[in-house]
Amino acid sequence: MVGYDHKRRQFLQYAAFGTVAAALPGFVLAEGGQINSAPSAAFKPDVELEITARIAEIPIMPGAHTSVFKYHGKLLKGPKVAMKTLPGYLGPILNFAQGQKVRIFFYNQLPEPSVMHWHGMHVPQKMDGHPMYAISQGERYVYEFEVKNPAGTNWYHSHTHEMTATQVYRGLAGLITITDEQEQKLGLPSGEYDIPIVIQDRRFTAGNQLQYLYGMRERMVGFLGDTILINGQANSTIPVKTRAYRLRILNGSNSRIYKLGWEDGTPLIAIGSDGGLLERPETYPYIMLAPAERVELWVDFSGRKPGSDLALRSLEFHGALPHMGGGMQRGRGGMRRGMGGMGMMSGGLSQDEALPLVKFHIAGKVSDSPRLPETLVRMRSLTEQDVSNPDRPVPIVISMQHMAPQLNDRSFEMHEVMDSEKIPVNTIQKIRITNDHGSMGGGMGGMRGGGMGMMMSMAHPIHLHGQQFKILSRTLQDQGGGDGYATVRDGFIGSGWKDTVLVMPGEEVEIIKPFEDYTGLFLYHCHNLEHEDMGMMRNFYVG
Ligand code: C2O
Ligand code: CU
Ligand code: CU
Repeated sequence: MVGYDHKRRQFLQYAAFGTVAAALPGFVLAEGGQINSAPSAAFKPDVELEITARIAEIPIMPGAHTSVFKYHGKLLKGPKVAMKTLPGYLGPILNFAQGQKVRIFFYNQLPEPSVMHWHGMHVPQKMDGHPMYAISQGERYVYEFEVKNPAGTNWYHSHTHEMTATQVYRGLAGLITITDEQEQKLGLPSGEYDIPIVIQDRRFTAGNQLQYLYGMRERMVGFLGDTILINGQANSTIPVKTRAYRLRILNGSNSRIYKLGWEDGTPLIAIGSDGGLLERPETYPYIMLAPAERVELWVDFSGRKPGSDLALRSLEFHGALPHMGGGMQRGRGGMRRGMGGMGMMSGGLSQDEALPLVKFHIAGKVSDSPRLPETLVRMRSLTEQDVSNPDRPVPIVISMQHMAPQLNDRSFEMHEVMDSEKIPVNTIQKIRITNDHGSMGGGMGGMRGGGMGMMMSMAHPIHLHGQQFKILSRTLQDQGGGDGYATVRDGFIGSGWKDTVLVMPGEEVEIIKPFEDYTGLFLYHCHNLEHEDMGMMRNFYVG
């Protein structure tokens, strides 16, 4: 897809730039289809799959079929449960077990480049779906990795340079579940009582075709649709029985954040987050779920009346949407007046509005139900004592000056790494993510970038590839004059393994992350996919 001359030029440019390119000739000069197009003879897979990305016409809304991009799966080897095909546009659910060796033959039959990323999974660089490994139409890429993650819910999606948002929007995503021995001993609801719920917002034309962004202004906020799809289908009602269920919820939206709550005010019981099961169940009044985040809920329908419904909703919240820095507009009212309602520009639902997501219909009565375990899994403890840089946290500074969302004042360059982005392998690092309000005189924001009103601040879901991390602290440094934070603050799960964390305006989040086993380039980026494609992404070089 990229000619040799172009790559050669790129290489020289990076070398001249003083990046690590010179030290990494192996993968700087090899891209996409030229590498990993054949399986390795030394790798003995327990599970072998074929996944083909292609255009498909499928029924989503009543009437005309919708043209989508779809991952078609085929199980070549391994237990039948390893792959479950869904109706709708999502790829098959892949059900793995810890310790399994998995090989996936990825065929790209789309008229544009593509690459697959295993979000949340700890895999080697060449298997991680870095955009430099995108393949062109007709090419094949072979992914081979051992499942190291513990039991939980991950997902896969395309990660193509500047096309992640459009490709995921058109359908290139799917769920991954992992099981392990610890989980199996718990006797959690399984089979039909273990329900995947992938939440995505979309917008359709009158002819049932997917409609994307209206323009640059909308891109700055990220795509916000007016139609909620659950597992790729509209108007979802899920029939359930009077007993306990495990719900695996993924926010697979490009940029919409949900504030999950039961419609009747029943508290939510979380048993898992991004990286797997929690140590014990935790109760929340509501749970914030930003793009790419997962939460596993325990919900018990016993005692509910057959024939009745219970809806999972997104509740109203504030403070996640942009407002201008420089001391001009403040808080919710300011945002709406000042920006003409950035969140409303989509012509659909605004970011912070309440909306129904999925309805559970109590369809049948059963008498037995598993009990919620008091404790779930043991996890490795990570504290500040374990990090090699307690006083020099690795910075991730969020900014949106001059209408350009950036990290550490830089935009994404395919192989570029700054000094602060070089991480010694097999170390545990403290990382500090800051999202300044950009108020006058305030740190990275506002005036420094060149004047009043040039800095926008909004919530960003920051995702790091590689191993899952722990949240060390979350501090609101600067209220910014709004009251929004109070509407979200009780909905953050802070105890489990995470790979994505929502950082609100004015917030500073410190995390602890191991960088073990694998060397090479690993991405970190905003998982607002419009932001990611605008360059709000960087590499860590682990070595
Ligand atoms: Cu879910 Cu770098 O991605
Ligand atoms: Cu990822
Ligand atoms: Cu962002």
